[in-house]
Amino acid sequence: MLIDGFAAFRTEYESTSERSVVFALFQQLLVDGRGVGIHFAVTAERPAALPTSIASSFQRKVVLRQTDDDGYRYFDLPRDVLTQTSPPGRAIQVGRPHELQLAILGDNINVAAQSRMIEQLADWLRTVEQPRPSKIRSLGTEIRAEELPDSVAGQPVLGVSDETLAPIGFKAGGAFLVWGPTQSGRTNAMAWLAQSLVRWNPELPLVHLSARRSPLAEMEAWSASATGAEACRPVIERLLSVTAEQSSDGLPLVAVLVEGFPDFLSGPVESQFTDLVRNCRNNGHLLIAEGEASGWNSSWTMLSEVKNSRTGLLLQPDPMDGDMVLRTPLPRFRKGDPIPGRGWWIAAGKATKVQVPWVG
Ligand SMILES: Nc1ncnc2c1ncn2[C@@H]1O[C@H](COP(=O)(O)OP(=O)(O)OP(=O)(O)O)[C@@H](O)[C@H]1O
Ligand SMILES: [Mg+2]
Repeated sequence: MLIDGFAAFRTEYESTSERSVVFALFQQLLVDGRGVGIHFAVTAERPAALPTSIASSFQRKVVLRQTDDDGYRYFDLPRDVLTQTSPPGRAIQVGRPHELQLAILGDNINVAAQSRMIEQLADWLRTVEQPRPSKIRSLGTEIRAEELPDSVAGQPVLGVSDETLAPIGFKAGGAFLVWGPTQSGRTNAMAWLAQSLVRWNPELPLVHLSARRSPLAEMEAWSASATGAEACRPVIERLLSVTAEQSSDGLPLVAVLVEGFPDFLSGPVESQFTDLVRNCRNNGHLLIAEGEASGWNSSWTMLSEVKNSRTGLLLQPDPMDGDMVLRTPLPRFRKGDPIPGRGWWIAAGKATKVQVPWVG
């Protein structure tokens, strides 16, 4: 393992409690790794950049030209071997103070020439070293819907998991919520979930209900779409009779996607909605209820019927929101810059960090 610039590495990994766990592992490997063939070479900008506990794990220390004598004094080295005019690569070793010149590839010290030589070396290594290490990847911030399959393990696709960087699915039954602050990507998530359900099962009727005008009303995916409580009422009545029946073979008879679900509170269809959520939860049909974070705060039955499923997509939550909204703790994490479509999928008591694809 090669680390170039230990001070920056240490600052980065000691900065949060979450990362300091990784730093502790690193220190353990430094001590125990050698026995199983893991070796470390590290560069440090100053002697003090390496804490003594860590410095003592290195058998060999090569000291290059220092800016002042303190560096040599720190390592108990003579101060008259290297000078300010010593060429780059001139060094002495702690405990072996003979002057030493580090080798380079080829004979041209020019930076561009050196980087070409290193690339050639890499090409050559690729031919002799098999298998190659796998790349360390991270979760993308913009994943295109086309990149994802039509289903995962027989389920419709939710998004890409941070744990495996592979698509994960969701159970197409019961009720769940799509929750998040403004501009967290809720509307896009609803568009994606509709698309995902169509790709999973083109036969499944999708019904769209929205508290207010929405660009999603125009989507081709819907068998029916209604905007506003009055227009929704007859559709919900019809849905109540459909969802009174039990689903067969785990296949829902209908999927209902509701935008602005909390906005239907204390309106003319509140109690019908409550019954519809109950029907879906009891009989295995699907209801997805979207709403802006603050709308979900109250404990009205219509909302708790959805929240009690303890299932949902929390976009850009604070660490406490898992407990607050779905009574499921989120792992400790640091809230970085908000990424649209990034959140946690909570189901069956487990939280998985996910990125929802961009439908655009
Ligand atoms: N999954 C995603 N991947 C990348 N960018 C996204 C994603 N989802 C949303 N965005 C970006 O965030 C913007 C807001 O998305 P969207 O309208 O879905 O959020 P919202 O939570 O519904 O916002 P509002 O609170 O205004 O209703 C989009 O215009 C897009 O630029
Ligand atoms: Mg929106």
